[in-house]
Parts: sequence; structure tokens; C-alpha cells
Amino acid sequence: MADSLDSLKEKVRALRSDFEAALREAKDARAVQSVRDRFLGRKSGTVTGLLKSLVNFAEDARRDAGQELNRLKAEIETKLSEAQSSLDLSVRDARLRGLDVTLPGRVPARGHRHPLTVAREDLEDIFLSLGYEIYEGPEVDDDYHCFEALNMPPDHPARDMQDTFYLKDAPGQLLRTHTSTAQIRYMLDNPHPPRVRIICPGKVYRRDDDITHSPMFQQIEALVVGPTITLGDLKGTIEAFLHSLFGPQYPSRFRASFFPYTEPSMEADLACVVCGGKGCRVCKNTGWLEIMGSGMVHPAVFEAVNARLGSVVYDPEKVTGFAFGLGIEHVAMVRHAIDNIRLFYENDLRFLEQFDA
Ligand code: DAH
Repeated sequence: MADSLDSLKEKVRALRSDFEAALREAKDARAVQSVRDRFLGRKSGTVTGLLKSLVNFAEDARRDAGQELNRLKAEIETKLSEAQSSLDLSVRDARLRGLDVTLPGRVPARGHRHPLTVAREDLEDIFLSLGYEIYEGPEVDDDYHCFEALNMPPDHPARDMQDTFYLKDAPGQLLRTHTSTAQIRYMLDNPHPPRVRIICPGKVYRRDDDITHSPMFQQIEALVVGPTITLGDLKGTIEAFLHSLFGPQYPSRFRASFFPYTEPSMEADLACVVCGGKGCRVCKNTGWLEIMGSGMVHPAVFEAVNARLGSVVYDPEKVTGFAFGLGIEHVAMVRHAIDNIRLFYENDLRFLEQFDA
């Protein structure tokens, strides 16, 4: 027997009031969800069940019955979602009531630059203020840029001091042993002479490993080339730079030295900034700290660059230049009287936090 429309309307009325009573009782999100399940659940919701029973209606009554039920369903849905959002709001209100907006904020711990970054940036700033340009070459380089063009042909004994790492899968490629490679790269990349005034900061690699040497460390190289550059310019520049970095009270001195890519070559020393020159552990009782290698660019270096360029761009008869190179770790060690280079790389906060810069 077909269900009657009247009895359906009766059921809808009863369901509506059941639903409203149930919703009034629902005080949290879970309770609201179980009211939803009870009336609209896909398997056993009462409204869902009635919708399924529409097939039992005589065809002429089915449309009205369907409308009646869909209206009820829409009404229930609206009320459920209203109930849900007013619950969300009251949860938020309750949370805010527990919040004291007058409490002082939590200050996040402030980080700072690594002492090696500070040293590098200080060095860069000094040279930038002297009008230098910063140029960076690659850390993986080749024999030509690292040795040959710097007047160190394959069996040159000066290579022994700079034993390095060679790349297995890239024949002829090595980790550069000094930033002097960047001198060559810059001159080859910028054949618009004859004025060069660059510094090249960056990482370099050697086989060395003891408390003052690390297989990876950083250098800054300087190269100046022009028609009238003299040894006096080199000494004046180094002195100006050392005064600016450590203060004018420390004298410097120059000692004759040897590098294949400079002639003459000099080592620049600074009076020990720890003992003031009297002699201590840091300067090994000499009163002096070795700071950098330097010299006037060897004509063979210009000639190597010209040979690669295929024209005489850096004519050793017309241009001269000076160059120097120093270790950034070494500067930072001298500055802070640190005796073990490894401390820089261990990421021990007890060490790093002492350099709040
Ligand atoms: N390349 C040298 C080293 O790593 C440092 C150096 C010495 C750089 C003399 C120069 C220079 O440019 O002229 O020990």
C-alpha cells in the first residue's frame, strides 16, 4: 500500500521538533555531529530513511512528499551549521578570556654573524672604501689558473707547499689552493686594461691540517694593475689597510720573500696586537705576526694572460701591478687571540656566542 502524504507531513512535524530538542541539548562539536548523524547520516539518518521511502509513494503524491522532505533536510542543515559556527566562536572567546594581553612579549633569541663572516665583511669594507671591486672566482678550478699562469709550471717546487684535492671524475679539475687563481680569471675575463683594482674573497683548499691550518679556509686576494703602480703603492696600501683593521698604534714591517708570481716578493708583518710587540704565545715570542704575502706582479703572469688572450693586452713594458693575499681565519685568530682554527668550524655555541657582533 502506498504511503500517504498526510502521514508523512505528520512525521516531518514530529522530526522537526525532535531535531530542535536534540540540537538544544548539543553543547559541543561532538554532540552537534551526533545530531547530524542521527537525522542526516547516510546509512541510518531518519530523514535519509524517509527520503529513501519516497519510492513507496503513489506517483502523484511523490513530488509533494519529496519537496516536504527536502525542505526539512535543508532546514536541518542550516541549523546544524549555525550551531557549529556559534560553538567555534564561543571556543575562541573562551581562549581569549584566558589571554592576558598586558603580559610582556617573549623576545626571540637574536642571532649574529659568525666571527669569520665579520672578519671577511670588515676586510671587504676597508677595500670597498679604497675603491676596490669585489670579484669572486670558482672554488673548483684547473691547473692552468691555479699554477701554470701564475708562473708555476708542472714540476715547480713551489707547488709542493700547495698540495690539493683533485676531482676524480673531472680530469684536470682541482680545488683551488689560493685565491690567486682569481687574478688570472679576472684579467682574462676583463680584457679592458690597463686598470684593475679588485679583491677576491673566497674558500681555498689544501692538504694541511693542524691547529692553525685547516684543509678548507678562506683568503682575500688583492690585485691592482695600472700604468704607474709601484712598490710604494703596495706598501702604502698594506699599511693603510692594517691601520684601518687593527688601529694605527701597531707598526708593520716588510720582509723579503719569494712567490713565483711576484718580483720582488714581500711578507708583511704587524706588531703583535696581543702583547704589543713584547713577545707572547700568539706571536711565538717574536713580537711580530705574519699577515700576508705580497709583491709586484711578475711579468711572466702578464705574459701568460696575453698568450691566452692572443694579444698583448697587459704589456709588461707599459703596465705594472701589485698583489697580495691573506687568510681570513688568520686575521680572525689574531683579532680574538684564538689559538685553534678548528673552533671556527665546530658550531659550538659556547664559542660562537662570545663574538656578539
Ligand atoms: N697565494 C699566496 C698564498 O696562498 C698568497 C699571496 C702571496 C698572494 C703573494 C699574492 C701574492 O697575491 O702576491 O700563500
